[in-house]
Amino acid sequence: MRKQIAAANWKMNLTLQEGEQLLEDIISLPHQLSENQEAVFAVPAPYLMMAQQKLRGKENFSVAAQNCYSKKNGAYTGEISVDILGSIDVHYVVLGHSERREYFNESNAFLAEKINICLLNNITPIFCCGEPLAIREAGTQNEYVAKQLQESLYHLNADQLLKIVIAYEPIWAIGTGKTASSAQAQEMHAAIREQLASKYGKETADCISILYGGSVKSSNAAEIFAQPDVDGGLVGGASLVANEFVAIINALKK
Ligand code: PGA
Repeated sequence: MRKQIAAANWKMNLTLQEGEQLLEDIISLPHQLSENQEAVFAVPAPYLMMAQQKLRGKENFSVAAQNCYSKKNGAYTGEISVDILGSIDVHYVVLGHSERREYFNESNAFLAEKINICLLNNITPIFCCGEPLAIREAGTQNEYVAKQLQESLYHLNADQLLKIVIAYEPIWAIGTGKTASSAQAQEMHAAIREQLASKYGKETADCISILYGGSVKSSNAAEIFAQPDVDGGLVGGASLVANEFVAIINALKK
Protein backbone atom coordinates (compact mmCIF):
# COMPACT_ATOMS: atom_id res chain seq x y z
CA MET A 1 0.00 0.00 0.00
CA ARG A 2 1.10 3.54 -0.70
CA LYS A 3 2.50 5.57 2.17
CA GLN A 4 -0.14 7.78 3.84
CA ILE A 5 1.30 11.13 4.96
CA ALA A 6 0.07 14.01 7.11
CA ALA A 7 2.47 16.86 6.36
CA ALA A 8 2.41 20.06 8.39
CA ASN A 9 3.47 23.22 6.59
CA TRP A 10 4.18 25.86 9.22
CA LYS A 11 5.11 28.41 6.52
CA MET A 12 6.53 31.63 8.08
CA ASN A 13 4.73 31.22 11.39
CA LEU A 14 5.53 30.65 15.08
CA THR A 15 8.47 31.66 17.23
CA LEU A 16 11.01 29.02 18.23
CA GLN A 17 9.34 28.70 21.64
CA GLU A 18 5.89 28.36 20.11
CA GLY A 19 7.19 25.74 17.69
CA GLU A 20 8.78 23.73 20.51
CA GLN A 21 5.56 23.86 22.51
CA LEU A 22 3.49 22.82 19.50
CA LEU A 23 5.66 19.76 18.83
CA GLU A 24 5.59 18.78 22.52
CA ASP A 25 1.80 19.10 22.57
CA ILE A 26 1.42 17.06 19.38
CA ILE A 27 3.65 14.25 20.65
CA SER A 28 1.82 14.09 23.95
CA LEU A 29 -1.68 13.80 22.44
CA PRO A 30 -2.94 10.30 21.60
CA HIS A 31 -2.06 9.45 18.03
CA GLN A 32 -1.59 6.29 16.05
CA LEU A 33 0.76 5.97 13.13
CA SER A 34 0.93 2.56 11.55
CA GLU A 35 3.83 1.28 9.52
CA ASN A 36 2.74 2.84 6.24
CA GLN A 37 1.82 6.20 7.78
CA GLU A 38 4.01 9.18 8.47
CA ALA A 39 3.69 12.65 10.03
CA VAL A 40 6.04 15.21 8.48
CA PHE A 41 6.75 18.70 9.80
CA ALA A 42 7.92 21.35 7.35
CA VAL A 43 9.23 23.95 9.75
CA PRO A 44 11.08 27.24 9.16
CA ALA A 45 14.78 26.59 8.46
CA PRO A 46 16.13 27.87 11.80
CA TYR A 47 13.92 25.35 13.60
CA LEU A 48 14.94 22.24 11.65
CA MET A 49 17.43 21.02 14.27
CA MET A 50 15.07 21.77 17.15
CA ALA A 51 12.35 19.74 15.41
CA GLN A 52 14.79 16.89 14.70
CA GLN A 53 15.72 16.82 18.35
CA LYS A 54 12.11 16.90 19.62
CA LEU A 55 11.10 14.08 17.29
CA ARG A 56 14.20 11.95 17.77
CA GLY A 57 13.28 8.33 18.39
CA LYS A 58 9.63 8.89 17.46
CA GLU A 59 8.79 6.38 14.81
CA ASN A 60 7.14 7.66 11.66
CA PHE A 61 7.71 11.33 12.53
CA SER A 62 9.95 13.26 10.14
CA VAL A 63 11.13 16.79 9.58
CA ALA A 64 11.06 18.60 6.23
CA ALA A 65 12.56 21.81 4.91
CA GLN A 66 10.17 24.22 3.19
CA ASN A 67 12.56 24.83 0.32
CA CYS A 68 16.10 24.27 -0.93
CA TYR A 69 18.29 25.63 -3.71
CA SER A 70 19.21 23.97 -6.98
CA LYS A 71 23.00 24.20 -6.52
CA LYS A 72 25.16 21.99 -4.35
CA ASN A 73 27.09 24.79 -2.62
CA GLY A 74 28.69 28.14 -3.32
CA ALA A 75 28.05 31.86 -3.21
CA TYR A 76 24.26 31.89 -2.89
CA THR A 77 23.65 34.01 0.18
CA GLY A 78 20.50 33.11 2.06
CA GLU A 79 19.90 29.79 0.31
CA ILE A 80 19.94 26.27 1.75
CA SER A 81 21.53 23.34 -0.07
CA VAL A 82 20.70 19.64 -0.04
CA ASP A 83 24.14 19.08 1.55
CA ILE A 84 23.21 21.37 4.42
CA LEU A 85 19.92 19.49 4.88
CA GLY A 86 21.63 16.10 4.65
CA SER A 87 24.22 17.12 7.23
CA ILE A 88 21.45 17.65 9.81
CA ASP A 89 19.67 14.48 8.72
CA VAL A 90 16.70 16.16 7.02
CA HIS A 91 15.45 14.00 4.17
CA TYR A 92 12.26 15.73 3.02
CA VAL A 93 11.81 19.08 1.31
CA VAL A 94 8.67 20.83 0.08
CA LEU A 95 9.26 22.07 -3.47
CA GLY A 96 7.16 24.24 -5.74
CA HIS A 97 4.64 25.43 -3.20
CA SER A 98 2.29 27.88 -4.92
CA GLU A 99 3.50 30.66 -2.63
CA ARG A 100 7.07 30.12 -3.87
CA ARG A 101 5.87 29.94 -7.46
CA GLU A 102 3.89 33.17 -7.06
CA TYR A 103 6.06 35.37 -4.82
CA PHE A 104 9.50 34.06 -5.80
CA ASN A 105 8.83 33.30 -9.46
CA GLU A 106 9.80 29.65 -9.28
CA SER A 107 9.17 28.11 -12.69
CA ASN A 108 8.53 24.50 -13.64
CA ALA A 109 12.01 24.33 -15.21
CA PHE A 110 13.73 25.71 -12.10
CA LEU A 111 11.81 23.19 -9.97
CA ALA A 112 13.05 20.40 -12.23
CA GLU A 113 16.62 21.40 -11.29
CA LYS A 114 15.75 21.34 -7.60
CA ILE A 115 14.09 17.94 -7.98
CA ASN A 116 17.25 16.60 -9.62
CA ILE A 117 19.63 17.73 -6.91
CA CYS A 118 17.33 16.35 -4.19
CA LEU A 119 17.16 12.94 -5.82
CA LEU A 120 20.91 12.83 -6.30
CA ASN A 121 21.34 13.50 -2.60
CA ASN A 122 18.78 11.21 -1.04
CA ILE A 123 16.23 13.89 -0.19
CA THR A 124 12.57 13.23 -0.92
CA PRO A 125 10.82 16.16 -2.59
CA ILE A 126 7.19 16.82 -1.73
CA PHE A 127 6.38 18.35 -5.09
CA CYS A 128 3.44 20.76 -5.06
CA CYS A 129 1.19 21.40 -8.03
CA GLY A 130 -2.23 22.96 -8.45
CA GLU A 131 -4.24 25.48 -10.41
CA PRO A 132 -5.36 29.06 -9.71
CA LEU A 133 -9.04 29.96 -9.53
CA ALA A 134 -9.27 31.32 -13.09
CA ILE A 135 -8.05 28.02 -14.49
CA ARG A 136 -10.53 26.06 -12.39
CA GLU A 137 -13.32 28.35 -13.58
CA ALA A 138 -12.25 27.81 -17.18
CA GLY A 139 -12.33 24.04 -16.58
CA THR A 140 -8.75 23.50 -17.78
CA GLN A 141 -7.25 22.41 -14.44
CA ASN A 142 -6.26 18.94 -15.63
CA GLU A 143 -4.20 20.33 -18.50
CA TYR A 144 -2.65 22.98 -16.22
CA VAL A 145 -1.51 20.43 -13.64
CA ALA A 146 -0.39 17.99 -16.35
CA LYS A 147 1.94 20.70 -17.68
CA GLN A 148 3.42 21.29 -14.21
CA LEU A 149 4.14 17.57 -13.86
CA GLN A 150 5.47 17.29 -17.38
CA GLU A 151 7.88 20.21 -17.10
CA SER A 152 9.20 19.41 -13.61
CA LEU A 153 9.08 15.62 -13.36
CA TYR A 154 8.80 13.85 -16.71
CA HIS A 155 12.53 13.91 -17.40
CA LEU A 156 12.90 11.41 -14.54
CA ASN A 157 12.96 7.67 -14.99
CA ALA A 158 10.51 5.44 -13.12
CA ASP A 159 12.94 4.61 -10.31
CA GLN A 160 13.52 8.31 -9.69
CA LEU A 161 9.82 9.15 -9.83
CA LEU A 162 9.16 6.55 -7.14
CA LYS A 163 11.19 8.69 -4.73
CA ILE A 164 8.82 11.64 -5.06
CA VAL A 165 5.72 12.60 -3.12
CA ILE A 166 3.20 14.77 -4.97
CA ALA A 167 0.95 17.31 -3.25
CA TYR A 168 -2.03 18.61 -5.20
CA GLU A 169 -3.01 22.00 -3.83
CA PRO A 170 -5.63 24.01 -5.72
CA ILE A 171 -4.52 27.60 -5.10
CA TRP A 172 -8.09 28.79 -4.59
CA ALA A 173 -8.35 26.46 -1.57
CA ILE A 174 -5.10 27.45 0.17
CA GLY A 175 -5.66 29.49 3.32
CA THR A 176 -9.11 30.51 2.10
CA GLY A 177 -11.22 28.12 4.15
CA LYS A 178 -12.59 26.96 0.80
CA THR A 179 -11.74 23.26 0.54
CA ALA A 180 -12.09 21.33 -2.67
CA SER A 181 -14.89 18.82 -2.18
CA SER A 182 -13.71 15.28 -1.62
CA ALA A 183 -15.09 14.49 -5.09
CA GLN A 184 -13.07 17.32 -6.67
CA ALA A 185 -9.94 16.14 -4.86
CA GLN A 186 -10.47 12.54 -5.94
CA GLU A 187 -11.12 13.60 -9.54
CA MET A 188 -7.83 15.49 -9.79
CA HIS A 189 -5.83 12.87 -7.90
CA ALA A 190 -7.15 10.18 -10.23
CA ALA A 191 -6.29 12.37 -13.23
CA ILE A 192 -2.73 12.88 -11.92
CA ARG A 193 -2.34 9.14 -11.36
CA GLU A 194 -3.63 8.43 -14.86
CA GLN A 195 -1.15 10.89 -16.35
CA LEU A 196 1.67 9.25 -14.40
CA ALA A 197 0.43 5.83 -15.52
CA SER A 198 0.40 6.82 -19.18
CA LYS A 199 4.02 7.93 -18.93
CA TYR A 200 5.46 5.44 -16.40
CA GLY A 201 2.99 2.55 -16.34
CA LYS A 202 0.23 1.75 -13.86
CA GLU A 203 2.42 -0.17 -11.46
CA THR A 204 4.69 2.84 -10.90
CA ALA A 205 1.79 5.32 -10.75
CA ASP A 206 0.05 3.18 -8.14
CA CYS A 207 3.05 3.49 -5.81
CA ILE A 208 3.19 7.31 -5.74
CA SER A 209 1.69 9.05 -2.70
CA ILE A 210 -0.46 12.01 -3.75
CA LEU A 211 -1.40 14.37 -0.91
CA TYR A 212 -4.21 16.91 -1.00
CA GLY A 213 -3.63 20.44 0.34
CA GLY A 214 -5.92 23.42 0.76
CA SER A 215 -7.86 24.16 3.97
CA VAL A 216 -7.60 20.62 5.31
CA LYS A 217 -8.83 20.56 8.91
CA SER A 218 -9.95 17.98 11.44
CA SER A 219 -13.57 18.29 10.32
CA ASN A 220 -12.92 17.44 6.66
CA ALA A 221 -9.73 15.35 6.74
CA ALA A 222 -11.30 11.91 7.15
CA GLU A 223 -13.67 12.40 4.21
CA ILE A 224 -10.93 13.71 1.92
CA PHE A 225 -8.37 11.08 2.97
CA ALA A 226 -10.92 8.30 2.45
CA GLN A 227 -10.89 8.94 -1.31
CA PRO A 228 -9.09 6.10 -3.08
CA ASP A 229 -6.43 8.28 -4.76
CA VAL A 230 -5.81 10.64 -1.83
CA ASP A 231 -2.90 9.52 0.33
CA GLY A 232 -2.99 12.17 3.04
CA GLY A 233 -2.60 15.92 3.20
CA LEU A 234 -0.31 18.94 3.22
CA VAL A 235 -1.75 21.15 5.93
CA GLY A 236 -1.07 24.82 6.61
CA GLY A 237 -3.32 26.67 9.08
CA ALA A 238 -4.65 23.61 10.90
CA SER A 239 -1.13 22.26 11.44
CA LEU A 240 -0.45 25.14 13.86
CA VAL A 241 -3.00 23.85 16.37
CA ALA A 242 -1.95 20.69 18.22
CA ASN A 243 -5.29 18.92 18.58
CA GLU A 244 -6.31 19.85 15.02
CA PHE A 245 -3.17 18.35 13.54
CA VAL A 246 -3.28 15.25 15.70
CA ALA A 247 -6.88 14.66 14.59
CA ILE A 248 -5.65 15.02 10.99
CA ILE A 249 -2.87 12.46 11.63
CA ASN A 250 -5.46 10.11 13.10
CA ALA A 251 -7.68 10.57 10.02
CA LEU A 252 -5.08 9.01 7.69
CA LYS A 253 -6.23 5.86 5.90
CA LYS A 254 -5.11 2.69 7.64
P1 PGA B 1 -3.85 25.71 4.28
O1 PGA B 1 -2.45 25.66 3.52
O2 PGA B 1 -4.07 24.36 4.91
O3 PGA B 1 -3.71 26.81 5.30
O4 PGA B 1 -4.90 26.01 3.25
C1 PGA B 1 -2.04 24.52 2.82
C2 PGA B 1 -0.70 24.74 2.17
O5 PGA B 1 -0.46 25.84 1.66
O6 PGA B 1 0.17 23.85 2.15
